Amino acid sequence: MIDPAIWPLGTSADRRGHLRVGGVDLVGLADRLGTPLYVYDAATIREAHRRYLAAFAPMRPVRVSYAIKACALRGVASILARAGADASAASLGELLAAKRAGFLPARTQLHGNAKTDDELRAALRLGVGRIVIDGADEIDRLRVLVARRARPQPVWLRVSPGIAADTHPHLQTGTLDSKFGAPIAGGDALAQCRAIAATKNLSLVGIHAHLGTQLHEAERYRELGEALVALARDVTRATGVRLKEIGVGGGLAIPLRSDDPVLDLAAYARAISEPIRADETLGKAVLYLEPGRSLVGRAGVAVYRVIGTKRVTGVRTFVSVDGGMGDNIRPALYDATYTAALAGRAAAAPTEHVAIAGKYCESGDLLIRDVALPTPERGDVLAIPAAGAYSVAMASNYNHHPRPAVALIDDGRTKVIRKRETHADIWRLER
Ligand SMILES: Cc1ncc(COP(=O)(O)O)c(C=O)c1O
Repeated sequence: MIDPAIWPLGTSADRRGHLRVGGVDLVGLADRLGTPLYVYDAATIREAHRRYLAAFAPMRPVRVSYAIKACALRGVASILARAGADASAASLGELLAAKRAGFLPARTQLHGNAKTDDELRAALRLGVGRIVIDGADEIDRLRVLVARRARPQPVWLRVSPGIAADTHPHLQTGTLDSKFGAPIAGGDALAQCRAIAATKNLSLVGIHAHLGTQLHEAERYRELGEALVALARDVTRATGVRLKEIGVGGGLAIPLRSDDPVLDLAAYARAISEPIRADETLGKAVLYLEPGRSLVGRAGVAVYRVIGTKRVTGVRTFVSVDGGMGDNIRPALYDATYTAALAGRAAAAPTEHVAIAGKYCESGDLLIRDVALPTPERGDVLAIPAAGAYSVAMASNYNHHPRPAVALIDDGRTKVIRKRETHADIWRLER
């Protein structure tokens, strides 16, 4: 009943049928800390990072750079900083969050298709490791900003390989019709590499592409590896620059439900690395991986309280909970399809199919369209697994609902790593 692939490591049902994450009873935790509540298991995050290192060990040199956008909470990100990961940031805010979590700015990459001059200036001042340039315009602006530096700033160019990955259209980022990256086809990427190479104080050390997120087809990654190799060769021919780093983005899917297709980490490692390692020049380049979801997704469980049930005869049964799209927008935004369990009756057999409705004033606010559960009752604690990525990170105050508290379980101990918001917090900046 508890599928180990989608719940945090070692999740179990105890003798009373209560769900335990990291050894801690989720029902007791919900009573004590209130709901909605996000619970992260530290051991699951560490294990996910270890698995990356193990899968890519034959492909070294490799750096795992945590895409902190998946969950930038210090309590979560610092686990990966301590484990030795780099960080990949999508904004100045994330760069600062990474620093606060313990990542060295020099081991951090800054992404973004619309970095402002202020963001670029601040990143340079912080000593950001790599700026991932996205667009010819950014080269022009950086040229001015770095003109008087004593040492060149290492940069990558984000390119778009024209590969449509097997995911929701909103989650694709490697296609030609994308706001991200310079298209390889047609020569934009090469032209921009030339422009960077010709710019004083910019040092083109790498190229980067990210296909999208929740991907599970090895072949797309292999195509990406091949496309980056071909471009790197062209760059060397055109500019004489031998690229030392290849950024392959993140995107590896995690299962949200038991029957979700996933790509085995070792198969992913082979698909993305083999074309690069087979190349004479790039054989020794550092391969930068940027996983977000696959490092923290499985570690996080969303915990809600059932508010009530509405049975619409002949249609479906809506079980309403005290959270929803304000703490997890992904079902509404990307059709993300989760499953759930009743934390107080984790061992009981399902008795009916229900929809889990959020409390936000939108018909699209359905956390789950269809899940088989023991008939939920008012007051039950409902837990949604695999909710650790892009949920809290995308949380909003829509309908003026305060954002949930977040707890971390580490070595049997529970720590609140983000307090529950209050209404006063929501109003704090209003004048
Ligand atoms: C540039 C970049 N790298 C890495 C990631 C992480 O992706 P994921 O969380 O699917 O591993 C993202 C997220 O979309 C991204 O935009």
